[in-house]
Amino acid sequence: MPDTTPHLTVRPQWTALSDHRAKQRQVHLRDLFTTDPDRAGRYTVQVGDLHIDYSKHLITDETLALLQELATATDVFGQRDAMFRGEKINTTEDRAVLHTALRAPRGAVVEVDGVDVVPQVHAVLDKMAVFAGRVRSGEWTGHTGKRIKNVVNIGIGGSDLGPAMAYEVLRSFTDRDLTVRFVSNVDGADLHEAVRDLDPAETLFVIASKTFTTIETITNATAARGWLLKALGDDSAVAKHFVALSTNAEKVSDFGIDTANMFEFWDWVGGRYSYDSAIGLSLMIAIGPDAFREMLDGFHLVDEHFRTAPAEANAPLLMGLLGIWYGNFHGAQSHAVLPYSHYLSKFTAYLQQLDMESNGKSVDREGRPVDWQTGPVVWGTPGTNGQHAYYQLIHQGTKVIPADLIGFARPVGELSARLADQHDLLMANLFAQGQALAFGKTADEVRAEGVTEAQVPHRTFRGNHPTTTILAKELTPSVLGQLIALYEHKVFVQGAVWNIDSFDQWGVELGKVLAKRVEPALTEGADVPGLDASTQALVATYRTLRKK
Ligand code: F6P
Repeated sequence: MPDTTPHLTVRPQWTALSDHRAKQRQVHLRDLFTTDPDRAGRYTVQVGDLHIDYSKHLITDETLALLQELATATDVFGQRDAMFRGEKINTTEDRAVLHTALRAPRGAVVEVDGVDVVPQVHAVLDKMAVFAGRVRSGEWTGHTGKRIKNVVNIGIGGSDLGPAMAYEVLRSFTDRDLTVRFVSNVDGADLHEAVRDLDPAETLFVIASKTFTTIETITNATAARGWLLKALGDDSAVAKHFVALSTNAEKVSDFGIDTANMFEFWDWVGGRYSYDSAIGLSLMIAIGPDAFREMLDGFHLVDEHFRTAPAEANAPLLMGLLGIWYGNFHGAQSHAVLPYSHYLSKFTAYLQQLDMESNGKSVDREGRPVDWQTGPVVWGTPGTNGQHAYYQLIHQGTKVIPADLIGFARPVGELSARLADQHDLLMANLFAQGQALAFGKTADEVRAEGVTEAQVPHRTFRGNHPTTTILAKELTPSVLGQLIALYEHKVFVQGAVWNIDSFDQWGVELGKVLAKRVEPALTEGADVPGLDASTQALVATYRTLRKK
């Protein structure tokens, strides 16, 4: 590829932002709110059901204008349009990036290499819906004729984190008579704990792997097949107890799964962008095809917003640019996502792969080293638990940590009548934290409480910690789809500005290759060439300890 794109840091728009940051060093959110009483209204955007308040950020109209100029200079919207058109924007793998086609409505047209992929997408969704319906109704039985009561999804990375997260989020929409578990770790403990109390005759394994070569997944799937066959004693049982979600029919068949029981997706769906494809089958079995469809509609709503909303009201663009403002001009190394919802307990873990596998890159699309920060470390857990663990560091530590606070006006369905007061308490915490982080507590305010002078520095909160607050009425399947699409496109925006390929993941390959190479040293004591002295000694210690 020609070395044509100017380096980001030499662009005049970048320099303008650096100069602006230098002038803005003393700005405090307290002053920004005092001088601009309309700020909360002006810096709020509504997307579908999501009310997104970004007023508690260290920005002015000028900051936003300069960030938008950077987005224009780096052609974020042009790159966005190329993605939606199905161009091969994943250049290192020569692939289109079309997770947006997975939620395109029936009848839409999205072409890859001249072929409209929307009919294929809906054919697979229909096949999934029929199968999920048969399992849910009891029509699909196991080998012995028993009803399927347990679904065990075996996958890792994008073939696990999405459905596992969404299953937690939408628990109250699931069929509570079904037990649904997710196994990802090659540590045998994961599979053992998932199946130890299950009846094999009532258990369906859903083997989720885009490539169907991932060692963890194939190892766990093989062990699961052994567990099943030990109990049912007949190879033909596999047909009723194993289905596959994959792009690789040949490997699925080699494993022994009938390709009639395979749910297909395509190489233009990245693993971390795949849970709304066939990879969502376990989720669909749990919540039903209608709720799954609602979730896809939620995704699509935000896709359309991202595709059509003007820059100044485009939520993924704004969120992406705010991340750039902190990561590239304030020295922030991380970004916290703090949901005030227990159902979102796996949400941040899901975002870690989405964001960090996408934007953890250090060369640009032309292969040149970048001299600017790329993706942040994404972290966080449900907010109220975090408040009693690591919020201290956010409030009074030395780091810049922008955060997203996510909450809902109503508790989900079955809890809403019983636990309304408890929900208000939960949300009071969200609002209190947003306020405390932004405005802190001045030394004078502390003194006014009669605190001794020696204690004043310890009890003073600098504040000025930026947050985005995302509110919605209720955590429904559609709202989940809206949230995920919002973050997907935010990650896209950042990769577009940084001029990196957000859709490859070569960085995880080295570890995979080395693990395969090292394994014989552990199992057979083989002399593996190229092992460094430290690793050789560790392997020797491991083998000695294992004997005892
Ligand atoms: O972690 C690397 C990765 O390739 C992810 O991108 C992917 O989601 C995961 O492994 C699982 O891959 P597969 O679905 O092919 O088993």
